[in-house]
Amino acid sequence: MSIVFIEGGSMSKSKKWLALALAVALVLAVALTGCSAKTEEPTSEEPTETMTLETIESGKLLVGSDTAFPPFESMNGDVAEGFDVDLMKAIGDKLGLEVVFQTEIFDTLIPTLKAGGKFDVIASGMTIKPDRQLEIDFTDAYYDSNQSLVMTKGTAYTGPEQLAGKKIGVQSGTTGEAWAKENVEGATLVPFKNATDAFAALQAGNVDAVVNDLPVSTELLKDDDRGMEIVSQIPTGEQYGFGVSKDNPELTAAINKALGELRTDGTYNEIYQKWFGILPE
Ligand code: ARG
Repeated sequence: MSIVFIEGGSMSKSKKWLALALAVALVLAVALTGCSAKTEEPTSEEPTETMTLETIESGKLLVGSDTAFPPFESMNGDVAEGFDVDLMKAIGDKLGLEVVFQTEIFDTLIPTLKAGGKFDVIASGMTIKPDRQLEIDFTDAYYDSNQSLVMTKGTAYTGPEQLAGKKIGVQSGTTGEAWAKENVEGATLVPFKNATDAFAALQAGNVDAVVNDLPVSTELLKDDDRGMEIVSQIPTGEQYGFGVSKDNPELTAAINKALGELRTDGTYNEIYQKWFGILPE
């Protein structure tokens, strides 16, 4: 490339400087355009976005989850199973990563993900909430949920005022706990490590009620007569999302892309039907 601005001595000194500056700017602009054109060149036919994931090195996508929350996640021997597990595995298939579930206490999931080094994703029936979004990123929503109030079978429940002076079991750090705090006056909240412990306490008569995500209460009280029933469905309009560190936006984007594909190719519906016995609305 040759740029000739200076012709003989016809230019004034200041004009020469201006011409020189313009020439330098032009050369820089051409060089920069050249660079960005180079990075945009596809290096192969395959999509490249998954290659930027930190986790690709190990080939494993590590997932933190409180695996006592059927039908989303529960342990069958030492194997995790459930809707979240199958969905995460299908996402892993799309990304070429092996999905490995690790059991964690629900309440510790966000701080542990934030701290880094232990797992890459939270898949734990976790509701997308503004206060949580200050700490971590969420993928697109993958399930619509509500709360439920569970009491001893036959209880005639009339409203939250009936819970004054009672003990309410909740899972620590959940939206069920938050609902009880906001909506029930004069009750004692009893926090449990997981939902199954809260139900065991209700069955044993150590608490009077449990507030918990509706689909999980439905599943836990499904076939065995445990002397408890859902006395009220609480329409909170929650949505579950997978949690990803704010330092890893490529992973969030890659999961969202995979999730979109699973919704269109029918895999999402298949997994939904497998765990809920119906198709999503
Ligand atoms: N959806 C509720 C929340 O986000 C409860 C989730 C509990 N999940 C679990 N795996 N124990 O707070």
